[in-house]
Amino acid sequence: MDRQELILGQVLSFHGDPITEGVAAARIERQGSVLISGGRIIGHGPAAALRAAHPDARLTDMSGHLISAGFVDAHAHMPQTAIIASWGKRLIDWLNDYTFPEEMRFGDRAYAEEIANRYLDLLLAHGTTSVASFCTTHPASVEALFAAAEARGMRVAGGKTCMDRNAPEGLIDTAQRAHEESAALIARWHKRGRAIYAITPRFAPTSTPEQLEALGALWAAHPDCLMQTHLCEQLEELDWVRALYPQARDYLDVYERAGLTGPGALFGHAIHLTGRERQHLRESGSSLIHCPTSNTFIGSGLFDMAGLAADGQRIGLATDTGGGSSFSMLRTMAAAYEIAQLRGAALHPAELWWLATAGSARALGLGDRIGNIAPGMEADLVAIDLASTPAIAQRSARANELWEAIFPTIMMGDDRAIAAVWVDGHRRQIPPKGNETVSGSDIGLPPA
Ligand code: GUN
Ligand code: ZN
Repeated sequence: MDRQELILGQVLSFHGDPITEGVAAARIERQGSVLISGGRIIGHGPAAALRAAHPDARLTDMSGHLISAGFVDAHAHMPQTAIIASWGKRLIDWLNDYTFPEEMRFGDRAYAEEIANRYLDLLLAHGTTSVASFCTTHPASVEALFAAAEARGMRVAGGKTCMDRNAPEGLIDTAQRAHEESAALIARWHKRGRAIYAITPRFAPTSTPEQLEALGALWAAHPDCLMQTHLCEQLEELDWVRALYPQARDYLDVYERAGLTGPGALFGHAIHLTGRERQHLRESGSSLIHCPTSNTFIGSGLFDMAGLAADGQRIGLATDTGGGSSFSMLRTMAAAYEIAQLRGAALHPAELWWLATAGSARALGLGDRIGNIAPGMEADLVAIDLASTPAIAQRSARANELWEAIFPTIMMGDDRAIAAVWVDGHRRQIPPKGNETVSGSDIGLPPA
């Protein structure tokens, strides 16, 4: 048994969903503490009381900082790490011109390992302790992601991205190969340590009906795997799906016919939905993953958070890097706030924080393990500096209550706000703030 550690700070926890149950479902203990041991949260409560009750626990004093569950990024693309912030394309051109050429490189195991390690280090530096990530068609890319996660003790979901049409030759598999390679990866990785396998058809346009059916059959044989894909992201994409699947009632119906809806199904974007699709998403227990920085960056549309939450949908929040423009779930919360404002609703900071932690964990079917601070939960935690830049500090100094002090960090914060990270109960090294990992000569700039 590890020695107990007592972390002192302002402890944020949820005993319900603030979006449907009200902001009081979030609780902040001002002089709080979290007791962890053996990778688990043992309890939390007033600092003075827990110090007295556990005098032998190692003390980590983060007083003044916000202690939260680590962020859970419910949809991202590890292989797009190096092409984040590529300029000026709509979805289909962006895929063809930037994404597919980069994903081709992941046939090289060494490159896959380099990017997987870089990606998870970036996530931890941004306070993200769990992610559901797409890989590439190459099984080596999945091996690289899970091995990098295992080395860091992270709870990561991932899977081989399956495509058997409308992509370059080097990224194409077949229905049978997608099934076989995914099945072999499930046997090797699913539930090994903290790994979770996600069966991953990229999206309807890059799979034949046969491939989707094969993956539906695979999911039926492994129902405790996740299933992740894209749905109703951009209008041109919807037209393409209609042309490729003329018999389908709508976009979701393409997946539904293949057995790819239900609990554990994660649908990225879900912007341009019909009433029928919304009804089936809710009734089937599927999850909708909001990717706000991606939806503005690629120009896809405005997710209907208020309407979908009122429907009773399960909603997670995600960066969708590299279509998304930031690794930071703080920046992602800010974008979710701005998109909700454009639709006439102001999300409370408690609702945004819930989406980035417990809401995303619930969307992944992991709400009883990660995404919250409660006894028995896995000890993935972050300590957040609520005054990480001069601009944030001067605003939070004016705050009259704690949520007002937190909101500037949501709107203006980034990795500089992440003071400490614990994964599986262990404090993880994160880079010192302002650390440069790429020099001018590395990126091909002419000498000054
Ligand atoms: N649709 C299919 N593939 C992708 C992808 O890689 N990123 C985004 N944003 N949408 C997609
Ligand atoms: Zn995506």
